[in-house]
Amino acid sequence: MLKNLKFHVSNSIMTLFLHMLKRNFQGQNLTLKTDRKRLLVTTVLKEIELLEKLSNAFGPSGNEEDVAEILKTELEEYADETRVDKLGNIFFYHNGKEGYPKVMLSAHMDEVGFIVTFIEENGFLRFETLGGITNNILLGQRVLLKGEKGYLKGIIGTKPPHIMTLEEQNKVIPREDLFIDIGADNFNQAQEKGAEVGTLGVFDVEFTDIGDGYFRGKAFDDRAGCTVLAEAFKSMKDSPYNIVAVGSVQEELGLRGARTAAWQVDPDYGLALEGTFVADVPNTRPDRVSSKIKGGPVITILDKTVFTHPVILKTLIKVGREEAIPFQFKKVPMGGTDAGAIHLTKAGVPSGTVAVPCRYIHGPASIMHIEDLRNAIKLVTEFIKAISVK
Ligand code: CO
Repeated sequence: MLKNLKFHVSNSIMTLFLHMLKRNFQGQNLTLKTDRKRLLVTTVLKEIELLEKLSNAFGPSGNEEDVAEILKTELEEYADETRVDKLGNIFFYHNGKEGYPKVMLSAHMDEVGFIVTFIEENGFLRFETLGGITNNILLGQRVLLKGEKGYLKGIIGTKPPHIMTLEEQNKVIPREDLFIDIGADNFNQAQEKGAEVGTLGVFDVEFTDIGDGYFRGKAFDDRAGCTVLAEAFKSMKDSPYNIVAVGSVQEELGLRGARTAAWQVDPDYGLALEGTFVADVPNTRPDRVSSKIKGGPVITILDKTVFTHPVILKTLIKVGREEAIPFQFKKVPMGGTDAGAIHLTKAGVPSGTVAVPCRYIHGPASIMHIEDLRNAIKLVTEFIKAISVK
């Protein structure tokens, strides 16, 4: 596997060196990032460059425009038509040959986050969570709010442990007792900084390469799926198949965008692309692990919103085996995906889900591995081919 490489070079030979590198890496899936100030050249795997942009983007449910913009920049030139609907779903159409079925791919653009519900007299912000975030991971997290006047940085706080009773120190603090501290002295200053009731926020975590193919960042659920969506769509540019790639909104609030998106697309088949939970961690009973990092893309058989249609399931298994793409089944039937909304559209749409296994989703930061991302892209690409010629 190609690893990210770093080169320190002197400024005078930078240009020559770059030229050489570019020639060397031609045809490989790499882009060169140059930082002339620090005299640093870094090679970045193309899909990771996109994942990084998507992961760092601000996109809590109901505020997905930045993510849509990144997808648009990435995919517009590959699409026969690009459009955004009234709810904010973005659609990329690849019009293939007549007679082939219409395959809808859907990856949700929103991430779990926060909404400000009240501003205290002393400038602290009360909040609710958007999507499923458990109370036990909130305390002490850095958050990023998008205020009226730009981004606001803050921390989820509570009273210091020094003044807690022993019992308080050992219990999960309810969300009602937490607040966001943005460094405002009082109500007026919080407002002057741009905080309002209704201001949205996300975890403030920067995408990081932690080595050996592992990456850490926020919102891999579902920016990993968005990356698979983009790369699979791009690979189909010259194909005869009919594909509609959708970046959907408000999945974390109940698959809302996918519902109206599927109605508009009216597909023959639907495939949700996700970042799913993984429990290959200490203290987990083997039957509760569900999926593993480096175990390959995760195929859903059953979750809380969909029973994967046998045609979809069989096709995924068949192409996985034939093309020797590692895959695994989701073994704990919890959670839900856009497939839950797509398959109930109009007279019904055979649907399923393929996900990149990610640890710690719905928390501040997740961990994933590039092998799983690449194999998910491969599996989805081969699935489109196989289901289209059925
Ligand atoms: Co998701």
